[in-house]
Amino acid sequence: MKREKVLSLNGEIHIPGDKSISHRSVMFGALAKGKTTVKNFLPGADCLSTIACFRKMGVSIEQNGSDVTIHGKGINALCEPDSLLDVGNSGTTIRLMLGILAGRPFHSAVAGDESIAKRPMKRVTEPLKQMGAVIDGRAGGEFTPLSVRGGNLNGIEYVSPVASAQIKSAVLLAGLQAEGTTTVTEPHKSRDHTERMLNAFGVELSETKTSASVTGGQELRAADIFVPGDISSAAFFLTAGAIVPESRIVLKNVGLNPTRTGIIDVLQQMGAALEVIPSETGSAEPYGDLIIESSALKAAEIGGEIIPRLIDEIPIIALLATQAEGTTIIKDAAELKVKETNRIDTVVSELRKIGADIEPTEDGMKIHGKKTLAGGAAVSSHGDHRIGMMLGIASCLTQEPIEILQTEAIDVSYPTFFEHLNQLAKKA
Ligand code: S3P
Repeated sequence: MKREKVLSLNGEIHIPGDKSISHRSVMFGALAKGKTTVKNFLPGADCLSTIACFRKMGVSIEQNGSDVTIHGKGINALCEPDSLLDVGNSGTTIRLMLGILAGRPFHSAVAGDESIAKRPMKRVTEPLKQMGAVIDGRAGGEFTPLSVRGGNLNGIEYVSPVASAQIKSAVLLAGLQAEGTTTVTEPHKSRDHTERMLNAFGVELSETKTSASVTGGQELRAADIFVPGDISSAAFFLTAGAIVPESRIVLKNVGLNPTRTGIIDVLQQMGAALEVIPSETGSAEPYGDLIIESSALKAAEIGGEIIPRLIDEIPIIALLATQAEGTTIIKDAAELKVKETNRIDTVVSELRKIGADIEPTEDGMKIHGKKTLAGGAAVSSHGDHRIGMMLGIASCLTQEPIEILQTEAIDVSYPTFFEHLNQLAKKA
């Protein structure tokens, strides 16, 4: 797709539903007894993979755009799937579903696309095996295809070496089906959508700053879920509004869960003109409106506890940093290497092609700003939705048009991304 510079970005958009919350709404609705309704579900390819997997296990799910109804019959009603559970590109689907399958007394086989086949699974299969599940796969259970024979689990106290909501959620979902109590402790708190939503489904959990515990045998009760807009999707337009001159963008109903708002902290630290207007709600997940205007930006140092709060936003933060005065340092982010692509490599290689001054490091990157981006090159998403969208925003600024390859990857989390960008753009 050929994209060219814009003069400014102005207007209002409704960001599609949060991907993490959408996945969980379907999974927990499938485990619950009764009718779960979901509003503002994200109909992106990843979340549709979750629906397809649970349908294969006998769950009746109606999906009409962003409205979903799940007719749950309880966790014991899930059936042995008679073919492979295909997770597509979705790491959240496979890792969380493994936690559910680990406790089910049947056999299942799980795999996804080429990117999933490269992503580490032992981080989840090891603790699940410790609990009693029988799991095997390529390289001793590290890579897909994986086979699972679940059941007879015992609770564990698991200390995770990485702050990962996917690990935490998988172990807690197995813990719900285990004897006794299961506790997961992480080095820093990762996103807590699982804890919040299990609560909404009637499950009792106990939490400390960096751990969550659940006692096995609790039943989930159906719930009505509203999914706020995805702050990880909003991040592309927050950055666009901050770096494209003469811009003002209003983003409505964006999720403001504090375990996800690292991007807001970074924008404020860099001097962005950002207004946050929280909505008055009693809902499990806080949300509100965001208004961003273009302004002068300065470099930031980003590392430590904030990393899990903005891990998916690092590709777009790298672009933001190209337009900030000084050197931005991103560290403690080695997890980037095991995302949909190795995002240290893909961010650095694609931004360099369009004129950014950026260096990879062992656990992040350094970006030297402020630089005019020349463009005039062909770049690629490498099949990674967030790299594709970052390049889509970069094209608004480049002196010469750029050709972006593999933009279809964006459908994973934001099928209407270019529609929204075109709607906001004022061209010469
Ligand atoms: C997610 C957790 C994060 C994030 C991913 C979605 C989730 O991964 O990168 O896009 O929904 O739990 P990790 O838990 O592996 O850090």
